[in-house]
Amino acid sequence: MNQRLRDILIHKTAADGTIEIENETPESVSQAPKETPTEGKASPELPTEATGETEQTKFITDAVEQMLCQQIGNELFAFYEYKAVGAWATSQGWDGFAAWGNAQACGELTHMQKILDFLVQLGCTPELPKISGIAARFDSMEKAVEGVLKRERAVTKNWRIIAKECLATFDSATLELAQWFVTEQMEEEDVAKTLLAKLAAAGTGAGILVLDGQLLAQYGG
Ligand code: FEO
Repeated sequence: MNQRLRDILIHKTAADGTIEIENETPESVSQAPKETPTEGKASPELPTEATGETEQTKFITDAVEQMLCQQIGNELFAFYEYKAVGAWATSQGWDGFAAWGNAQACGELTHMQKILDFLVQLGCTPELPKISGIAARFDSMEKAVEGVLKRERAVTKNWRIIAKECLATFDSATLELAQWFVTEQMEEEDVAKTLLAKLAAAGTGAGILVLDGQLLAQYGG
C-alpha cells in the first residue's frame, strides 16, 4: 500500500472480510461538494468552455479506491475458497459439488478482474492483497456451503457500504460498478442458500447422491 493511501486510510477489514468504517464521517464525505441554493437560477452553473486543464479527472476518492482494493482481496479469497470446496468435494467422490465449486470459483476470478480493470482504467495501481487462511477440509458439505454463504453475505455487505460511500461523495462511476456487484451478489447468495436447503432436504442418504448428479448435470463441463 502506498503512503498516500496509508495516510488517508479510514477503513479496515474485519476477520470475516467485512469492511468496517472507523470514522462515521469520513474525510471524503466531509469534503463532498456542498449543495448550493439554486433559488432564482434557471439552471445549475456549468462550464461553457474548455479550461485548458490537463490534469487527469479524479473519478473516485482515495477512500473508495482503498475499499475496492480490499474487495479485490475478498474476491480472490472467494476464488480460493470455492476452489478448496471443489477440491475437497472431488476427494470425497462428489463430482457434482466439485463442478459447482469450480464454476463458482471461475466467477469470482472474473469479479476480481472486473474491479482490477476498473481501478486501472481510472489510473490507479492497486496492490493485490495477500490471501491466507483458506480451509482445505470440511466437516461436511453442508458446513462447506455454510462457509461460502457467510462469505458471500460479507461481500454483499461491503458492496452496500461502498455504494453508500459513492452516494455520499457523488461517485457515479463506482456506484454503477457497485450496483452491478450487488445484483451479482443477490444471485450468488441465492445459489448458496438454495443449495443449503437442498442439502438439508437430501439428508445423508441416497438424496445427496441425487443432488450431486443434478449439480453435475448443471455445472459439469
Ligand atoms: Fe464475487 Fe461471490 O463474490
